[in-house]
Amino acid sequence: MKISFADAAKADIVAFIVDEGDGLPGAAADMDAASGGLLTEALSGARFDGKKDQQAVVVLPKGGDARRAVLIGGGKPKKRDARVFESLGANLVKSHAKGGFKTMAVHVASAEDAARVALGAKLAAYRFDTYFTKLKADQKPSLTHLTLIVDDAKAAKAAFAPLDAAAEGTNLARDLVNLPPNDLYPESFAGRLKDLKEFGVEVEILGEKEMKKLGMGALLGVGQGSRKESQLGIMKWMGGAEGEDPVILVGKGVCFDTGGISLKPGPGMEDMRGDMGGAAAVTGTIRALAARKAKVNVVGLVGLVENMPDGDAIRPGDILTSASGQTIEVQNTDAEGRLVLCDVLWYAQEHFKPKAIVDLATLTGAIVIALGHHHAGLFTGSDDLADELTKAGLHEGERVWRLPMGPEYDSLLKSKFADMRNIGGRAAGSITAAQFLKRFVKDGVKWAHLDIAGVAWVEGHKAAFDVTWSSGFGPRLLDRWIAQNYED
Ligand code: BES
Ligand code: MN
Ligand code: ZN
Repeated sequence: MKISFADAAKADIVAFIVDEGDGLPGAAADMDAASGGLLTEALSGARFDGKKDQQAVVVLPKGGDARRAVLIGGGKPKKRDARVFESLGANLVKSHAKGGFKTMAVHVASAEDAARVALGAKLAAYRFDTYFTKLKADQKPSLTHLTLIVDDAKAAKAAFAPLDAAAEGTNLARDLVNLPPNDLYPESFAGRLKDLKEFGVEVEILGEKEMKKLGMGALLGVGQGSRKESQLGIMKWMGGAEGEDPVILVGKGVCFDTGGISLKPGPGMEDMRGDMGGAAAVTGTIRALAARKAKVNVVGLVGLVENMPDGDAIRPGDILTSASGQTIEVQNTDAEGRLVLCDVLWYAQEHFKPKAIVDLATLTGAIVIALGHHHAGLFTGSDDLADELTKAGLHEGERVWRLPMGPEYDSLLKSKFADMRNIGGRAAGSITAAQFLKRFVKDGVKWAHLDIAGVAWVEGHKAAFDVTWSSGFGPRLLDRWIAQNYED
């Protein structure tokens, strides 16, 4: 679906936002008059009173340009924040995408709000249906073009540009998380990273041989039970000053997590196709930064593996040596994400001088118990970083919530045989996972960990633009965080 901005436009469907309890907006006056008062008529009699996302559809008389007018409730103007405008755009697209008409126009008063309507519309127009072979024509969208009608179309277009880029990143992350594990495995994921070269991203892929040289025994340990070769993906978006140190994003890319020898129960295991949600978020963010030519240096690192049970898989009791030199007793092969991340975090610090590192991972089931599906868990020793990420999350509606860390939790990782074990026991599972990662972050490095296990795919309450299983969580939050804190 193409999105454009103009101060006037012809379209098959023309939509107007109606304030709760109020009459027709001024923008609808001409169409109302031309139709002999059909729009006013739609407001009387029916139960339409402008409550958020209510709709009244008016069939217009023949002869005019437009075929339908849509009145959509905007709720109370005072409560109308960015989330409401996104939801209006999403609901308009969902209601009319398959109705048979090709073009829709929406009147929006301000440029900023028009950009948010456009973002909601774009996210709601996402589809992941290539695996359906029997889709009938009427199950495919007819809508090809959306125009936001707004007085200052130029300003609206400018406001939308970065949101558009972030939405591209969201949709890429959605694709990656949705893809089935037989088609998205470490090497094929790495192949998709290479697609980013066309946007000016430098991409480098390390295989098992190279990672062995780097001593990445923890990451390689996870992958050793899989027929698929493990990969480390390195993406560089160098839009900032030459020689300026980068911000680093690290993603867990477990393309499928069976649990390994500590095998997961069968029901629901298919969801573990999404266990690369952190890597997807990082990839989508790099895509967003490149799309809007962000003036900043950012490196994305993704550890890509598959966690499988096999005759050669790691066992509970095995002791792995990580790239940092620290040894890890594997007590549960299902706590594999931290084994992947610890080596990638180490790589980040050995090869770069990061201004900040944020890692994202579908790391623990415990975070779903703690926060449910509407906040990612945030772990950091830096109050500044916590503040930056919390604000960016609120701005974009991808919220994070900070949980505590501390030496009491760290002590739960003690092992009888090695420097540490890879689980901390039943208590505070998400925190001990974060403490594990912290052991691989050098003193003085500004680092945060986001546990996105509860938010990488959609469960429970849905936003209007949640039209697919994967949420694409991450790129909008991270792109905003970078824009607000690391770009000139
Ligand atoms: N990928 C899972 C975490 C997960 C669970 C993500 C549910 C999304 C939804 C992770 O690798 C895992 O298995 N974690 C274990 C850790 C435990 C063995 C310490 C868990 O959470 O049970
Ligand atoms: Mn696991
Ligand atoms: Zn996992």
